[in-house]
Amino acid sequence: MQKDTVTSTNNINILGIETSCDETAVAIYNNHQGILSHEVYSQIKLHNKYGGVVPELASRDHIRKIAPLVLTALAKAQISKYDLTAIAYTKGPGLIGSLLVGSQFAHGLAYGLNIPIMGVHHMEAHLLAPMLEENKPQLPFVALLISGGHTLLVKVSKLGCYEILGESLDDAAGEAFDKTAKAMGLNYPGGPEIAKLAQLGDPNKFSFSRPMIHSKTCDFSFSGLKTQVINIINNLNNISIKNKQDIAASFQQAVVDILIKKTFLALEKTKYNSLVIAGGVSANTEIRRQFDKIAQKNNIKIYYPRHEYCTDNGAMVAYTGYVKFMQQEGIMPVDIESTAVRARWELSDLKEAKD
Ligand code: KG4
Ligand code: ZN
Repeated sequence: MQKDTVTSTNNINILGIETSCDETAVAIYNNHQGILSHEVYSQIKLHNKYGGVVPELASRDHIRKIAPLVLTALAKAQISKYDLTAIAYTKGPGLIGSLLVGSQFAHGLAYGLNIPIMGVHHMEAHLLAPMLEENKPQLPFVALLISGGHTLLVKVSKLGCYEILGESLDDAAGEAFDKTAKAMGLNYPGGPEIAKLAQLGDPNKFSFSRPMIHSKTCDFSFSGLKTQVINIINNLNNISIKNKQDIAASFQQAVVDILIKKTFLALEKTKYNSLVIAGGVSANTEIRRQFDKIAQKNNIKIYYPRHEYCTDNGAMVAYTGYVKFMQQEGIMPVDIESTAVRARWELSDLKEAKD
């Protein structure tokens, strides 16, 4: 049952459900013990042969996997479904069919258990993922969110209030990795594949342009990079493994340079000295290494999620649900008729909704 008052001494268990793209992920967050269990089923193998996510196949696979994953998460957390206090699910943005699977499942379960439900913004969940670490980011901070669908620089003065300082005008950073990898004949998702190749490559071998790097805004542009890679490949008669390594390293360096330049511009504009970097691309070791180096010089503290909470996961959704539950915001008694999801949803809308 929904509680009228919430105190930190109550035992609160939030089930988080993430189905926005090609990972079915669930987790249980407890207010005293943190994440009790977290399960991720990746559909990578299913989509690999198509070189990207096929939305219809993704939704069908979520349907197959969601119930067994929730049962496993409950078993590993050693709690029963009756111990759940509330359910948080990703309401958007994402693939509409995939989102609907999570929403319908969450609503059905919450209705059966008569507990409240919270629809979570996927990018807010990425943004809050570093809060699951022992060394939590202190407000205020700038967040660089780099995923397969979004590249955002966000000014965070308090939780729930998000001012977008800059965003990608075309491809997201992760999308640029994926499309470049595809052009090079690599597997999906391309980010980890490029990162692996880049380790052995020369980042100065090819001079890819850094679009918009000198503009005074915090916006990004990545789509031109992919075209440059395709042109280079077409100009090389026979692409050797060394060529691939050098292209990967040079491409990755161009992305790192753009991300660093724009992020430090955002830090300058806000005068903040704390930075959160999250989203799938933040798993990239070279990006972290170069950010850490320059941050140290400039007295900026950086907070990342651990690797398993960079890419899509249920833990970040469960935790975001917990924050909302404690703030008593966005909580709805379950209404089986309001299971709508949002394929497109601006992060800044969350703030406006509250004003
Ligand atoms: O956050 P995420 O799991 O899903 C979205 O919300 O989009 O991000 C997935 C993206 C993919 O584009 C993937 O290629 C990229 O994150 N990615 C990486 C790395 N690991 C995942 N990009 C660069 N380097 C990595 N190590
Ligand atoms: Zn994501």
